[in-house]
Amino acid sequence: MRVLSGIQPTGNLHLGNYLGAIRNWVKMQDEMASGSQCFFFLADMHSITVHEERAQRLKNVREMAAALIAAGIDPDRSVLFNQARVPAHAELAWLLNGTARIGWLNRMTQFKDKAGKNREGASVGLFVYPVLQAADVLLYQATHVPVGEDQKQHLELTRDIAIKFNTDFGVDLFTLPEPIIPKETARIMSLRDGSAKMSKSDPSDMSRINLTDDDDTIASKVRKAKSDADVLPETYADLAERPEAKNLVGIFSAMTGESTDAICARFAGQGFGALKPALADVLVESLRPIRQRFEALKNDDVALDAILQKGAAKASAAAEPTLRGAYDAVGLMR
Ligand code: TYM
Repeated sequence: MRVLSGIQPTGNLHLGNYLGAIRNWVKMQDEMASGSQCFFFLADMHSITVHEERAQRLKNVREMAAALIAAGIDPDRSVLFNQARVPAHAELAWLLNGTARIGWLNRMTQFKDKAGKNREGASVGLFVYPVLQAADVLLYQATHVPVGEDQKQHLELTRDIAIKFNTDFGVDLFTLPEPIIPKETARIMSLRDGSAKMSKSDPSDMSRINLTDDDDTIASKVRKAKSDADVLPETYADLAERPEAKNLVGIFSAMTGESTDAICARFAGQGFGALKPALADVLVESLRPIRQRFEALKNDDVALDAILQKGAAKASAAAEPTLRGAYDAVGLMR
């Protein structure tokens, strides 16, 4: 089993990233059988699709590394690195550009969402972003890729690219990866709008809970989260038409391990004035230790760089046979 996943180091690690992906990364790392390996990386090469000042980008990469370690990624057990330190990602992405089809990329909903109405003004990098993502996965022969729901389409494309490459060049080079998407927390929604996912790029910081937020900020974001004036029903199924309420109950359940039905039953007949303070307490208590570990690590540039460098060396070595195989299959000498 080869587990691999990545996160863009733009902005903070938020509750959507944590419940949708990172918590599963840690679980898979902790349950890893011997002979299996986990690779987790900061998709800093992907992050160039968002404009950022140099100093800010450097800071973002280190801070996201600190946040992942604080959330439970252990660099001694998992290979933790940043993509830019492993040039094999960019090299394989270029080779795969010969295989991926424009029609396939045109169907990517994330590109449509991010490019918005001004498609002509979007960067080429944003358009070919999923090809680099395919390279990230295929380079390591990953079998399992733990991600949130929004990455499902990119992984389907990864499989299509792998199949076409293997077929076109008559090789059995790339392994087809399986996405691992959590059932209940595949899509955590914004605290301000139950129809939009919680996201780093939402201009309102009130829409998300960052793993770096202090206790008061968390409590205030939960208190001000959009909800509705109705009372909670006996069962979760009765929340079907109430997206904000559903999201808050879902987060509550994900944080405590209690079922969504049990939470509804506990608060049935009461409004969000009762549920919100309890949810705030749960979030504050569970996120505090992560934040404390993050605070202790985030300014230690020397230690963080050493971890990422060491991870990059291991990743480069693991990527080399596949990269060599890809050049060879295409008929390019290096
Ligand atoms: P990114 O940085 O947007 O998000 C990192 C992970 O968090 C998940 N996620 C969510 N899950 C549930 N609810 C949400 N509101 C939510 N928001 C984010 C994402 O699904 C993701 O798993 N393209 C990727 C990074 C990437 C990658 C890869 C992932 C680059 N190469 C190769 C896997 C394999 C991205 O931008 O994720």
